[in-house]
Amino acid sequence: MMSTQITSFLNSFKSQLKVISPGRINFIGEHTDYNNGFVLPTAIDKKITLSFQKASSATQCTVLSTTYQALFTFDIDKVEIREATWENFIVGVVAEIQKITNGIGAFDCLIDSDLPLGSGVSSSAALECGIAYGLNALFELNVSTLQMVQLSQRAEHNFVGTKCGIMDQYAVMKSKESTVLLLDCLTNQHTYIDVDFDPYVVLLLNTNVSHNLASSEYNTRREECEEVVSMMQKDNANITSLRDITLLQLKDYESQLSDVHFQRATYVLQENQRVLEAVDYLKEGNLKQFGNLMYASHFGLQHQYEVSCPELDFLVDFSKGYDQVLGARMMGGGFGGCTINLIHKNAVEKFITDASIAYKKEFDIDLTSFVTVPSQGTSIYS
Ligand code: GLA
Repeated sequence: MMSTQITSFLNSFKSQLKVISPGRINFIGEHTDYNNGFVLPTAIDKKITLSFQKASSATQCTVLSTTYQALFTFDIDKVEIREATWENFIVGVVAEIQKITNGIGAFDCLIDSDLPLGSGVSSSAALECGIAYGLNALFELNVSTLQMVQLSQRAEHNFVGTKCGIMDQYAVMKSKESTVLLLDCLTNQHTYIDVDFDPYVVLLLNTNVSHNLASSEYNTRREECEEVVSMMQKDNANITSLRDITLLQLKDYESQLSDVHFQRATYVLQENQRVLEAVDYLKEGNLKQFGNLMYASHFGLQHQYEVSCPELDFLVDFSKGYDQVLGARMMGGGFGGCTINLIHKNAVEKFITDASIAYKKEFDIDLTSFVTVPSQGTSIYS
């Protein structure tokens, strides 16, 4: 049942601006972004819709999420970390905008979503970027899209506590329909690559698990990579990230590094190479080899970087029994969420049925799935 507070908010709300902010997929290049590496993501056709109005109050902002059936208020002059994570994605962005402009006033926002939460399609970045984009337009702040990407990332660091890279916010904000985005996270330069997978399609299988290791292990992986860099930096001050190291150079340090550190760094360097190879295959239309690289990426994430989980591994292994699946891998931070599969369109239905039965039998969890397409990033709804 709707609370009276929610009903009265809805009755008085008059949208002045509507923003659509999509989730993202990533074909290859996982855990490379915060190592200044390469990624190959794009936005999808599932999204968060945010409606904005300037608030009638001078300082009180009201935000309603229809997904959570929850409403909260905060003072625009006193933005602080909150208890509920989803609220921090919002106030975090507000606080970060306030650091670079003082044009933002009190606002109300109504949020609706058809993005599955916690499933590795980055509903968090979609929310952050949607808020940034909406406030920028509503208050005519003249903040550039790159600034919005970066401040959304900082909101996640400073208000949520995940030291995420830049891929999600970048893909959510900058993607274009029918393309994937090759992003160099060292320079923040991107190129669009046209894609037409037909007769193949992108299928996401959602494990519907989200192991609570995700955030702590994520930060640990980041630290492990930084430790490798610090160690190698002692001999060469020019090394500032794993991007400055070759596999051969790393090999020279193998005996000085723990096995875990060596495996982590090896994975990152190999994954960077895979992204560039994958782009070449994509341009040649060689989807078979592209798919093989997706499998190789998953292998590295499972065994070297150790951010997968039994549910993800099961689904990737299961897909190998189907010739019509060219490639599959876990996607995003790991420890749950979705696998991304490149599959022949004629095989989708049977594959989903078979995978759902097998997954249910193995884990007693219902699998959910959806086919998606590369789509436009955050934009004004018209
Ligand atoms: C999460 C982070 C991204 C990226 C991926 C792993 O989605 O938000 O920055 O590091 O994990 O590739």
